Amino acid sequence: DLKEPGPSDNQLFDFKKSHKPEQLTTGYGRPLGERSTVMTVGPRGPILLSDFPYIEDVQRFDRERIPERVVHAKGGGAFGVFEATDDLSDICKAKVFKRGTKTRVLMRFSTVAGESGSADTVRDPRGFAIKMYTDEGIWDLVGNNTPIFFLRDPFLFQMFIHSQKRNPQTHLKDPNMVWDFFANHPMATHQFMFLYSERGVPDGFRHMHGYGSHTFKMVNDRNEFVWVKFHMRTDQGIKNLDPTKAKILAGEQPDYALADLYNAIAKKEYPSWTVYVQVVTHEQAKNLPFNPFDLTKVFSQKQFPLRRVGKITLNENAENYFAQIEQAAFSPAHMPPGIEASPDKMLQGRLFSYADTHLHRVGTNHHLIPVNNPETNKNVKVCMYQRDGAMQTGHNQGGAPNYYRNTFNGPDVTDRSRHLEHATFESGMAARHEASDDDNYSQPRVFYQKVLDERGRAHMIDNIAEHLQQCTDQDIVRRSIAIFANVDDDLGRRLAQKLNIDTSKKTSPTATVRSKY
Ligand code: HEM
Repeated sequence: DLKEPGPSDNQLFDFKKSHKPEQLTTGYGRPLGERSTVMTVGPRGPILLSDFPYIEDVQRFDRERIPERVVHAKGGGAFGVFEATDDLSDICKAKVFKRGTKTRVLMRFSTVAGESGSADTVRDPRGFAIKMYTDEGIWDLVGNNTPIFFLRDPFLFQMFIHSQKRNPQTHLKDPNMVWDFFANHPMATHQFMFLYSERGVPDGFRHMHGYGSHTFKMVNDRNEFVWVKFHMRTDQGIKNLDPTKAKILAGEQPDYALADLYNAIAKKEYPSWTVYVQVVTHEQAKNLPFNPFDLTKVFSQKQFPLRRVGKITLNENAENYFAQIEQAAFSPAHMPPGIEASPDKMLQGRLFSYADTHLHRVGTNHHLIPVNNPETNKNVKVCMYQRDGAMQTGHNQGGAPNYYRNTFNGPDVTDRSRHLEHATFESGMAARHEASDDDNYSQPRVFYQKVLDERGRAHMIDNIAEHLQQCTDQDIVRRSIAIFANVDDDLGRRLAQKLNIDTSKKTSPTATVRSKY
């Protein structure tokens, strides 16, 4: 009784209703007279090389897969619109925020660690990627459904992801790797607590909030700047899955979230999110008791209330999953004038990583694929000096000069003051600055004591214990509990009790060091 038939079950019937069969062709358009038999010498004989329709077909099939995303491989998405409902011109000059402006949007939701065929209902953060086809080029806000992340240094990202993926020998998911990473990186505590809370398994993609997570910079047309965080709050209300139901669904309906999104849109129940920013001035940021560019921290909403800026509504399913969702290439580096990066080291690492993976995963000219093409917005004309490369299928800048500067009217800067990045003052010792103990516990403590109620605490403890007990190394378990005890003695005690662990035994040093906070 878990599966209710929806529009996705009828997709092929809908297609049939509106289409008559058309003449079959090869990829190069030659009409075909036959599609079920290869061309052979005699009825039993070998195949001829002149059977181009067969050879072309098998060659294309052999190359159907592109590499899946190294993370966030399983996901679904849809198109829609962002409407700027409130004036933001006092802090941001980006045209996308001009009140009343409507901008076409693509969103892709995903899990993180699983492969592209994995189940939707696992405990994992959810990717919350937004692509806006603005009048000033693509803006990608590539966030998650969590306001924070596991790390504050991007050199650790690859290591963290390895620990969440498969064991290199057994090719199995390995709780020892997950919890060993945790036991050695107390900075992940805040995000682990969020992940093992009830929000760790959202009910589909429509019933969760999204966050830009990092601190970004906004610049107005007087060249003044503020720091902001983006919040996308679901208008459908938060709904999470009971862990037992989630496990059943993972077996019986592994594409639960994809189907839910597709069917809601097909039934015209368009999901929407109200978009807000939290605004922090440079002065306020300097006076915070923590690094405002630390991705493991949130800004208090009491101190920095949410300011509404607009609404995203998804109202159009993709016509073709591969062309429009699988090939979509989101990068946090894509920002229009008025929205800029902050010094957040994690964000800085990401600014490089995404475009790099797109060159590998989608190809040199990934920006020409319609779903990625900024010229999808008719007000945008891409004028630049990049040329050629595999699969150059665009205008390739025609006869325009291919070097800058030139005296032949090639593309040039026409409005410097509007488009120049905001100048920042950066100075300091170039070094590998250690920040692994940069207050790992104050905010998790607030999360445990104030954000969660007793029911939420009990659920989180059950969820942590259920996974932690799969770890076969008692030292790792004890060190993990010691980290949670640093958040709150009550949390440590309850976990130890549940797991029947004697915490008085000596452990390796990492996590038992009491934080100075
Ligand atoms: C996907 C790298 C942190 C959200 C990806 C991909 C890479 C990557 C290589 C695959 C992209 C593709 O194939 O198109 C990194 C690195 C990080 C980092 C190096 C840290 C240093 C984060 C954080 C968030 C995030 C903090 C959220 C706040 C996403 C999302 C996707 C993604 C939503 C999927 C985008 C899509 O739907 O195509 N990441 N990531 N990542 N990442 Fe990250």
